[in-house]
Amino acid sequence: MEIIRTAQLMTTWANSKVGQGETICLVPTMGYLHDGHLALVRKGCDIADNVVVSLFVNPIQFGPGEDLGNYPRNFERDAELAEESGANVLYSPDVKDVYPDGFQTKVSVAGLTTGLCGASRPGHFDGVTTVVAKLFNTVKPNSAVFGRKDFQQLAVIKKMVRDLNWDITIVGHPIVREKDGLAMSSRNAYLNKEERVKALCLFDSIQFARKQVSSGNQDAGALKKEIEHKILEYGDVLIDYISIVNAETLKECEVVDKNSVLALAVKIGSTRLIDNGFLYKNA
Ligand code: PAJ
Repeated sequence: MEIIRTAQLMTTWANSKVGQGETICLVPTMGYLHDGHLALVRKGCDIADNVVVSLFVNPIQFGPGEDLGNYPRNFERDAELAEESGANVLYSPDVKDVYPDGFQTKVSVAGLTTGLCGASRPGHFDGVTTVVAKLFNTVKPNSAVFGRKDFQQLAVIKKMVRDLNWDITIVGHPIVREKDGLAMSSRNAYLNKEERVKALCLFDSIQFARKQVSSGNQDAGALKKEIEHKILEYGDVLIDYISIVNAETLKECEVVDKNSVLALAVKIGSTRLIDNGFLYKNA
């Protein structure tokens, strides 16, 4: 596996692969890789000749008071894991290479970014779409894999690609979970023992809601209230949002149907966690 540190060298590498008629799949990450990320890398290996994993903790997608400074990092371990999973390149530029002095451009998707995480993290998705746009132009991928764990992010990236006519296939990968159901996340590293137990409120709520729906409770408002009670039973969990939205439009549903997704964000201690899931079993 090659480690590439600058956009210029990355594009030289990409141009040579494109020239040889080979395909490239990009897996964008902020590092501190876990099995969720690695599943995306393996998916990339199935669909392309070359997989580029990008590792860049993108400062412009963090708001003031968020965890940019503490974000967990372990470059050596990430490089080993990416290589073991089949990546051909680990692209890890530094901040000055991505945002040189005088950088002034922003890529922004309206509409889909207004609710859910967009409402509680103003500017977050502009940071995501700006860096992903730059990665697409630098790495020149035919496809890119994103996790459904960041369900709104996936919808926003798909929209950006459609709106800007990028010829890149965006592949959504199912959420990879720990044995007890907690969605894997680099931020799980922040949780102490008690917080780790409380973090199960997310997956438990999704399971609970699915059961409710399968026994005929399709009133989204009533369901959200019940979920709220359930989460509050865990104690010391701050609810950011409990939303039941249409998977395409991300608009709140009044009645749960096959396209309804329960999306949750909570703060446990100082750690913000998200999770989501379709509410119909076979959706
Ligand atoms: P990061 O949080 O590192 O996640 C990188 C990719 O891994 C995202 O597509 C995310 O959805 C996916 N992922 C994380 N946990 C997962 C899990 N448990 N199961 C499946 N997929 C999972 O998301 C970002 O970084 C950044 O916003 C980025 C897109 C890299 C832009 O900076």
